[in-house]
Amino acid sequence: MRTPSRVATFIDKGGTGKTTVAAHLGVALSEAGDDVLLVDLAGKQGDLSKHFGLWDEVEESIERDDDWPNISTVFQDEWDIIVEKLGDAAVHDLILSTDEGPDVIPAHPGLDSLDAELGNIDKPSDRYSRLDTFLTEYVDPLGYDVVLVDLPGITNNVTYNGLWATRHVVVPVEAGVFEASQLEALEKDLEKMGENFGVEVELSMVVPNKVDRRTKLAKEYLREFRDAYPEIIARPVPVSQEIRNAADEGRTVFDVEEPSKTGERALSRFAENADELRNRIAEKPSSSPPEVVSDD
Ligand SMILES: Nc1ncnc2c1ncn2[C@@H]1O[C@H](COP(=O)(O)OP(=O)(O)O)[C@@H](O)[C@H]1O
Ligand SMILES: [Mg+2]
Repeated sequence: MRTPSRVATFIDKGGTGKTTVAAHLGVALSEAGDDVLLVDLAGKQGDLSKHFGLWDEVEESIERDDDWPNISTVFQDEWDIIVEKLGDAAVHDLILSTDEGPDVIPAHPGLDSLDAELGNIDKPSDRYSRLDTFLTEYVDPLGYDVVLVDLPGITNNVTYNGLWATRHVVVPVEAGVFEASQLEALEKDLEKMGENFGVEVELSMVVPNKVDRRTKLAKEYLREFRDAYPEIIARPVPVSQEIRNAADEGRTVFDVEEPSKTGERALSRFAENADELRNRIAEKPSSSPPEVVSDD
């Protein structure tokens, strides 16, 4: 059995392009032949599903009261019992297919209370490893090549589950001092996870996003990010109205028939970055067991 590579998109800040990057890297990997599963943990607004025009469908199922099980269910104590009852259907019910290649496990309003619920679990090794357990037991057997998890722009128990489970994080940054400091904070956080729990999470890629090369500021930040992260800096993704328009239309730029020049450039950047990411994560598998698990 192949074990899928797992990756999370994360930075403790909203609006830098986590969801956009997850969606576009997902499609890029898929176009290059990988079987890709996208998992939306980023919150009940369902941005990742909206990228593929699937959110209406999810909302309808919620209205029909037909929204169980869902992504928040897999974190619950009852999940194992649900699987016993429903069998394989429990997992298959979670997964939607898109018309751009990747499959998606959509977000759900239940994610709202998930951080607090996880906070009630005493043992850190249990609190943070629920997603890992779910992916290992129920998703790994499905044979995906890559599982990409989109995280919220905030550091909480849900985020830690995402990082713990994937061990590889892709960080979209805009050209700004705030991003630079958040990136440093994330590095320290990851170090602490390593020290406290024996879970080595690797900063796999920093993606400069919404880059407008005509501005001096953007150039300066690009240089700074390159100097600080020479090994993992990705090709910059240009700011492109087409990305925004495509998202509004429920698709990625890969699905736009005649993209503009910047749209084209964004596409090739995503494709190159996806290629590079695949090489990088192949070197270090996600599911190596933690070496030390301390519970304090
Ligand atoms: N390269 C880009 N060019 C133009 N707009 C972008 C680009 N990347 C993201 N956006 C837009 O910026 C907004 C925030 O992006 P999003 O991916 O939702 O950020 P996050 O998930 O980090 O909160 C969205 O409206 C998105 O369409
Ligand atoms: Mg998002």
